[in-house]
Amino acid sequence: MIVTTGQLFKHAYGKYAVGAYNINNAEQAMGLFKGCISSQAPFIIQISKGARKYTDKRVLEAIIRAAGEIFPDAIFAVHLDHGDEQTCYECIDSGFFSSVMIDASHESFDQNVAITKRVVDKAHATGISVEAELGMLGGVEEDIKVDEGHAMLTNPEEAKDFVAKTGCDSLACAIGTSHGAFKFKGKQSLHFDVLQKIKALLPGFPLVMHGSSSVPQDEVARINAAGGKIAGSMGVDPNEYLPAAKLGVTKVNIDTDGRLVWTRVHREYFRDNPGDFDFRPAGKIFIEEYAKFIASRNVLLGSANQLADLRKSLGK
Ligand code: G3H
Ligand code: 13P
Ligand code: ZN
Repeated sequence: MIVTTGQLFKHAYGKYAVGAYNINNAEQAMGLFKGCISSQAPFIIQISKGARKYTDKRVLEAIIRAAGEIFPDAIFAVHLDHGDEQTCYECIDSGFFSSVMIDASHESFDQNVAITKRVVDKAHATGISVEAELGMLGGVEEDIKVDEGHAMLTNPEEAKDFVAKTGCDSLACAIGTSHGAFKFKGKQSLHFDVLQKIKALLPGFPLVMHGSSSVPQDEVARINAAGGKIAGSMGVDPNEYLPAAKLGVTKVNIDTDGRLVWTRVHREYFRDNPGDFDFRPAGKIFIEEYAKFIASRNVLLGSANQLADLRKSLGK
């Protein structure tokens, strides 16, 4: 069942975080739904601009609709990840999305406010909620690359002002994470001090953590043992998800970890079966392994075993 992102946030706020997982294909979708059903967790499926271009956005929408029918007990929202203004409007008009993210964080504060406000006005007119971003994460977002030195943590006072001026429904805050597999060079920790200040100024307001993959080192080691060359990777400590959730982080974005599971499964499969060229056996293993991974994340996020209570609170 597709619900609004707001309904998920209302149930989760301050107690647990909803996992927001990117998908690009059918295998990821099947693994995601299986993992969320086995762990009895609500979730957010997110689609990036890149994912919409890969194959075709209509194929992704059809996959998600079909998965929703195959897993009728699933409760989830559909979200545009890192949208520009035009893509937000397309997704709002499509009638398929629960929420969109307008990412104008690379613009000046005033420009970010102006763009976000335009998207909020259009989205709210059709009942869709909007995630915005303030502050800049390091790493790569589509075609925009921010190095660690230029990444900027979110200023709590600005965050309060930004929310008041734009009317956005949730805010992606920069609290020390970055996209991809190389998040920290030194100490691996979230800036809980910044989070605490934002929560104090915006009580009850859902915050979003991007760049939340934990980059499991056992996955990386297996990838490298099967021919990969990934050096110096480091992710978020997944034991920090729940403390962050208690401070208002209600949506935790995870993409890179799923790519690592995919790479590990496929590298190992074709290393061990060098004569094989049917991709389906490896695809089947991936679906199961991704499902296990998703279930394990949902436990750490505190979203596991929340489905029954959520269903009750939705009156379904
Ligand atoms: O934040 C970026 C997400 O991981 C999506 O990545 O733009 O390569 O699909 P993508
Ligand atoms: P990761 O690269 O840490 O998985 O972050 C994904 C993300 O923030 C998607 O918006
Ligand atoms: Zn992101």
